[in-house]
Amino acid sequence: MEKKNCYILGIESSCDDTAAAVINNGVILSNIVATQKIHEEYGGVVPELASRAHQQNIVPVVTQALKRANINKNELKAIAFTRGPGLMGSLLVGTSFSKSLAFGLDIPLLDVNHMQAHILAHFINTEGKKPPSFPFIALTISGGHTQIVKVSHYFEMEILGETIDDAVGEAFDKSAKILGLTYPGGPLIDKHAQNGDPKKFKFPKPKVAPLDFSFSGLKTSVLYFIERNVAENPNFIKENMDDICASLQYTIVSYIMDKLKNAVKITGINEIAIGGGVSANSGIRKALEEAETTYGWKVHIPKFEYCTDNAAMIAIVGELKFKNGIFANQSVSANARMRY
Ligand code: KG4
Ligand code: ZN
Repeated sequence: MEKKNCYILGIESSCDDTAAAVINNGVILSNIVATQKIHEEYGGVVPELASRAHQQNIVPVVTQALKRANINKNELKAIAFTRGPGLMGSLLVGTSFSKSLAFGLDIPLLDVNHMQAHILAHFINTEGKKPPSFPFIALTISGGHTQIVKVSHYFEMEILGETIDDAVGEAFDKSAKILGLTYPGGPLIDKHAQNGDPKKFKFPKPKVAPLDFSFSGLKTSVLYFIERNVAENPNFIKENMDDICASLQYTIVSYIMDKLKNAVKITGINEIAIGGGVSANSGIRKALEEAETTYGWKVHIPKFEYCTDNAAMIAIVGELKFKNGIFANQSVSANARMRY
């Protein structure tokens, strides 16, 4: 039997990507992302500029998402938007836009937690991929977050551990900045690492609780390491770029794998689903694939476009909430520190 159409628009504006997507019964019909380039020249996201860019981008991005999905806004059944966590000025743009649009169209609003969305992105219908089965362990790794979460059901999630300072993406980006690489430096470290020796240099792994992370010490040790070596040889970075990147990536990846091993041991769950921009890292992907054979884990890695910040993941959470009757109303406000 054919399912009735149920078009839901998802809107994401928590950081520096303005995104809109249309979903229909688990299938993504469009997934548009406008990445703000303005931050590159500052070496990091500037909140005030992000908010302004969202205001400029949001109408064209939503228009494009509807057009690509080949639907009219009057066919929408509901609007899902990122309520938090994120940058307040950025969240406000998506929140107020979504509230106005839902009000104008007289359709329900669905508020979405960005972190839950990174996890539930695994439930988007994707050819050749089966969604994780409950319970599973989710690892969200990006420029803004690093968390290990026990997922017992769609909206039953428990944070088992998280970073106590920087996110893993920040560790990549800040180290890259020290090496003189452009922002965001994570993908560049990954690229250089492919040609380097991961055991050439040693960096410390910070000691914190078994399921927590800490990355600020790593950044500092990279800084001292570089300063020390450049004082002796001004060409040190240039001559050793590939090995430095490979060693750094090896340290970060093995640190993450240590934490996952702890999580599997503590919970007895060996099904792992990852999400967030750092999931694109070739070292982490390889390590997880190897863990399937070595430890018998079942690993889920989403399509890249659903790993980085996107609105398809907001739309799928919206759809799950819609089908379970979990609605927001017009009094809902953005929440920069939203928890589960
Ligand atoms: O999820 P995302 O697009 O945005 C948020 O931060 O929420 O993640 C972006 C982060 C950046 O820190 C970027 O450097 C990192 O993901 N990243 C990578 C790679 N691709 C993206 N880090 C390491 N290796 C990569 N291949
Ligand atoms: Zn994110």
